[in-house]
Amino acid sequence: MAGRLAVIGSGLMGSGIAQVSAQAGWQVTMRDVDDASLDRGMSAIRDSLNRFAAKGKIAETDVEATLARINPTTDLDAAADADIVVEAIYEKVEAKHEVFKALDKICKPGAILGTNTSAIPITQIATVTSRPESVVGIHFFSPVPMMKLVELVRGYQTSDETLAAARNYAEEVGKTCVEVKRDVAGFVSNRLFSAILVEAIKLVESGVVSAADLDTVMKLGFGHAMGPLATVDLTGLDVMLNAAGNIYRDTADEKFFPPELLQRMVQAGDLGRKTGKGFYSY
Ligand SMILES: NC(=O)c1ccc[n+]([C@@H]2O[C@H](COP(=O)([O-])OP(=O)(O)OC[C@H]3O[C@@H](n4cnc5c(N)ncnc54)[C@H](O)[C@@H]3O)[C@@H](O)[C@H]2O)c1
Repeated sequence: MAGRLAVIGSGLMGSGIAQVSAQAGWQVTMRDVDDASLDRGMSAIRDSLNRFAAKGKIAETDVEATLARINPTTDLDAAADADIVVEAIYEKVEAKHEVFKALDKICKPGAILGTNTSAIPITQIATVTSRPESVVGIHFFSPVPMMKLVELVRGYQTSDETLAAARNYAEEVGKTCVEVKRDVAGFVSNRLFSAILVEAIKLVESGVVSAADLDTVMKLGFGHAMGPLATVDLTGLDVMLNAAGNIYRDTADEKFFPPELLQRMVQAGDLGRKTGKGFYSY
């Protein structure tokens, strides 16, 4: 049964999570650090809902009804009555620790404290709370309104009840869950994708193949809907540099070491679609 959700962060992922939850009838509080970020998040949700309505996938009246269930705020205390929190701020452990320390004080007993982190261990995030059994990875994929998968990630101390509540929530908002049984860096999705991406970038960087041809191999040879380089342009090169870097630090496994080309592109500001240029131009 739909309940109360607090989403922390109103960026690409946070706004998508707020949208699908509100569409499923949840009352959503969406928190960001300033009004400009919240306005961008709310506009992204409105645009996405309008596109669904234009295609006839939802009724016109659902657009305003869904938006009315989302309360944008800069006040973290608004998470106090949430049944479930999903944190979706920058992929920086210090920033996430600050948020979880505060949530531990603010949230009601028994609230599920979820994180949408791509690659930071859930156990490490949970250490700053007094209730690590309630902390769980609820890992959505981008764009959230379109992608069906959620990885549910067990931290070292996550309880069965927490995992079950997170599953109920994710299924209620229309997602299919897979359970990641141990808290390995990168979980299953980013372990697989980082390994493929690092090898793909090395092949391009060493002149073996062009970016477009590499993607064509994965599409036409292996039936992928998108190649890895078009995918990283969508996800953000900075996000994947962080993710692969985190996995490398945790495992010391060379196959995750971010290639020079990826590091330079991020330093130069070519982050993919969001900056107009990555492996392709937009
Ligand atoms: N981009 C992806 O495809 C993707 C996919 C899965 C998971 N993730 C993960 O989701 C998280 C968010 O990624 P994103 O792409 O949405 O980032 P983003 O940069 O689009 O959004 C982050 C938002 O968090 C806000 N923020 C920063 N500190 C905050 C705080 N203390 N309280 C509230 N808001 C705060 C920022 O103002 C910004 O609006 C990251 O952990 C990322 O690794 C990203």
